[in-house]
Amino acid sequence: MNEPLVLGIETSCDETGVGIVRGHTLLADAVASSVDEHARFGGVVPEVASRAHLEAMVPTIERACETAGVRLDDVDAIAVTSGPGLAGALLVGVAAAKALALGLGKPIYGVNHLAAHVAVDQLEHGPLPEPCLAMLVSGGHSSLLEVDDVTVGVEPLGATIDDAAGEAFDKVARLLGLPFPGGPHIDRAATSGSSVYVDFPRGLTSRKDLERHRFDFSFSGLKTAVARWVEARERAGEPVPVADVAASFQEAVCDVLVRKALDAATTRGIEDILIGGGVAANSRLRAMATERAADLGIRVRVPRPGLCTDNGAMVAALGAELVARGRTPSALDLPADSSQPITTVVA
Ligand code: KG4
Ligand code: ZN
Repeated sequence: MNEPLVLGIETSCDETGVGIVRGHTLLADAVASSVDEHARFGGVVPEVASRAHLEAMVPTIERACETAGVRLDDVDAIAVTSGPGLAGALLVGVAAAKALALGLGKPIYGVNHLAAHVAVDQLEHGPLPEPCLAMLVSGGHSSLLEVDDVTVGVEPLGATIDDAAGEAFDKVARLLGLPFPGGPHIDRAATSGSSVYVDFPRGLTSRKDLERHRFDFSFSGLKTAVARWVEARERAGEPVPVADVAASFQEAVCDVLVRKALDAATTRGIEDILIGGGVAANSRLRAMATERAADLGIRVRVPRPGLCTDNGAMVAALGAELVARGRTPSALDLPADSSQPITTVVA
């Protein structure tokens, strides 16, 4: 029998993603991004994102089907991000998915965006190790999760108590005069800078903080430290060494992320770490995690950058796994839930 053919729709933030997956095989991953429309605001504007999703939805579905060489009739199930994310943006995807499911007479799965970030790695590296420790780092979230079966649930171990990791990259990039979204620009600038130029603070790593927040993150203090450092330079009339500040900031973020992920994996006796979300595209994070984990006999899996940022393939990948494991679909009146808890995989 053929593995399930699933179409996945992602609209939780500023990417309209439509992916088509057969089992663990990626057939199409069409993404239309409204990121350029938000750039001048320095962050995603929800209303602008919703309108862009509406305009991009049908052409992106058509493009995905064309690339995959399938007709909508061939699809066995529709999966869609039901949350968490921007309410208006989610609604566009959920409405489109319902229309498809109803029109085609196929089941619909409203899935958790974070679980989809985990499931996507199956498309690149095969079945997920069970259990695995997932570190999801993006513009909207930074969490450490224990995943035993991604179709059933994930256990949150820790999360950011203020800014998300990607948010910190974006804000610091702005301070340094780099364009939005800042992560890739900091990554690039850092390659020619010194990571030990400034010793920026590592949030929530003091002994006292570890008692209450062992697996939690905090990046707002780091962002403030960078701002103060840059201001002091500017007040003194000295040029800001952008590459060095970018490299030192990036080192501080990666150091904390990797330390806490490894601590969590060791404590829980988990031998596989999966990193996902937009910040997982960061070259220093990938290198540092792989290097330090190897010393502890821990394996690290990171999907290729295009699968780390938001896309439809990740939603289709989770959908295909739900179908393959015989999980119950959502009701056709499923809601878009902007604060869908990470423990709810299928809405
Ligand atoms: O997962 P994603 O596409 O969207 C959200 O769900 O937020 O992540 C976008 C975030 C942005 O903050 C962006 O600056 C960051 O991921 N990002 C990076 C890199 N590429 C994207 N951060 C650091 N280094 C990168 N290479
Ligand atoms: Zn995301």
